[in-house]
Amino acid sequence: MTSPAQSKRRWYGIERRDFLRYMATVSAIPTLALRAQAEVTEKPHFSDNPFTLGVASGDPAPDGVVIWTRLAVKPLEQGGMQNKSVRTQWEVATDESFANVVRRGDAVATPDLGHSVHVEVDGLKPHHWYFYRFHAGNETSPTGRTRTAPAFDATPDRIRFAFTSCQHYETGYFNGYPHMQREDLDLVIHLGDYIYEYAGADKRPRKHIGGEIETLDDYRTRYSQYRLDETLQETHRLFPWLVTWDDHEFDNNYANLVSEQDGVSPEAFLARRAAAYQAYYEFMPLRRSSFPQGPNMKLYRGCQYGRLANFHVLDTRQYRTDQPNGDHQKPMTGKVFDQKATMLGDQQEKWLMQRLQDSSSTWNVLAQQVMMAPLNRGEGDDHRYSMDQWPGYEVNRRRLLNFFHEKSISNPVVLTGDIHVNWVNDLQLDFQDPKSPVVGTELVGTAMTSGGNGGNVISEYERAAAQNDFVRWYNSNRGYVSCDITPESWTSHFRTTPFVDKPGSPIETKASFVIENGKAGAARV
Ligand SMILES: [Fe+2]
Repeated sequence: MTSPAQSKRRWYGIERRDFLRYMATVSAIPTLALRAQAEVTEKPHFSDNPFTLGVASGDPAPDGVVIWTRLAVKPLEQGGMQNKSVRTQWEVATDESFANVVRRGDAVATPDLGHSVHVEVDGLKPHHWYFYRFHAGNETSPTGRTRTAPAFDATPDRIRFAFTSCQHYETGYFNGYPHMQREDLDLVIHLGDYIYEYAGADKRPRKHIGGEIETLDDYRTRYSQYRLDETLQETHRLFPWLVTWDDHEFDNNYANLVSEQDGVSPEAFLARRAAAYQAYYEFMPLRRSSFPQGPNMKLYRGCQYGRLANFHVLDTRQYRTDQPNGDHQKPMTGKVFDQKATMLGDQQEKWLMQRLQDSSSTWNVLAQQVMMAPLNRGEGDDHRYSMDQWPGYEVNRRRLLNFFHEKSISNPVVLTGDIHVNWVNDLQLDFQDPKSPVVGTELVGTAMTSGGNGGNVISEYERAAAQNDFVRWYNSNRGYVSCDITPESWTSHFRTTPFVDKPGSPIETKASFVIENGKAGAARV
């Protein structure tokens, strides 16, 4: 989401040969990690608890899940760990007391990856709860709880998940998470802006450590600061997460190799991107298939919940062409209709279309970042659309909606983050024709904190809600969305927190909407 840049770029003007050396170092990480295993500290001693950042799990499959931890005795001081690899042990049990351990093994935490540990556990039963923990030396991690996905050919009676995004630490407390923890969920989905890159600023509820983040150490410290938030860490401990990023995990409103600011060289931008992507991988429960390769990282992937729901997790930042017409709110003209403009890049788009076509699930869920419905925010005849969102890539947007329609994709539901406001939208084939068929449903989640307390009347959005026929509802509170999916229907509860400027807010359900199987578009209940 567009907001002013807050610092100068230290990387600007980096020497090309330094950049190449840096890139060579970054892309050598897998090799370094393997070599380090020859000199592993088998029985480490820690000056303090090394599990300060807790545990997490993610990317569930029918037979397993990723379990994660990161050793850091001083998480805000570059981990406070010795520059040595450390052996950890992990175990997975069917019970919280670990009387019935079903899988165990060991894993090496290397300094190259900030002593993070990602274990892809397999051999588990589909759609079962499990408990897991790590040991290092004499220390034991908190016990995490996780759940595998249903078997590919199973049709569960229901699954439940919550999704959220945009958790600017400075603008508030993550008051939605304690309420999310009390819900009966299979999964939590995070749609990005997990961190914000900006420098610490005064006179806010909380404060970022340091300046705008640019180096690997900066990004690591920022993630640590966020993950030390007890409400966030606890929500990771309790549920498996399916994560994707938006722009602020790296830099506001970036597009592929293009910074929102002029004068940033591609080399400098790529070097920073490599640092940002590596830190993201290090802190998230991701599979090896997402291992960063220098400034590239494959985050788009699938996650199937039997014949009930198929999640298609997208990355709309890394491969997109530059925002047309100079970004911001513009009329739908000029480069908006560039035939070559792309939001997903060719490879990801082909992958998505193939997955949608092959999907045997009732609900096809696109977990992604930016609004797909073409929201006209202008006044009168001055029609204006966000060039950072799908309407800035109109040819691509229509190609995808046409694909939903022509291939009769089963119940496409688009989950969106980014803009800190809830929207419920019908996705019409041709938004300029009121009689055009509705081919999908868009549920836009609000921010967890970004934008502050919220709940205020935003005149631009009041106008937009009134003048765009496809809008079913909008709301400006903070919070998250809780979804309950059955073979017959999909119910979304829009949970909101009345305030985020101090901890301990209650939760409200502002509205609930139902999508019926076979009928695109949501109706209020
Ligand atoms: Fe955001």
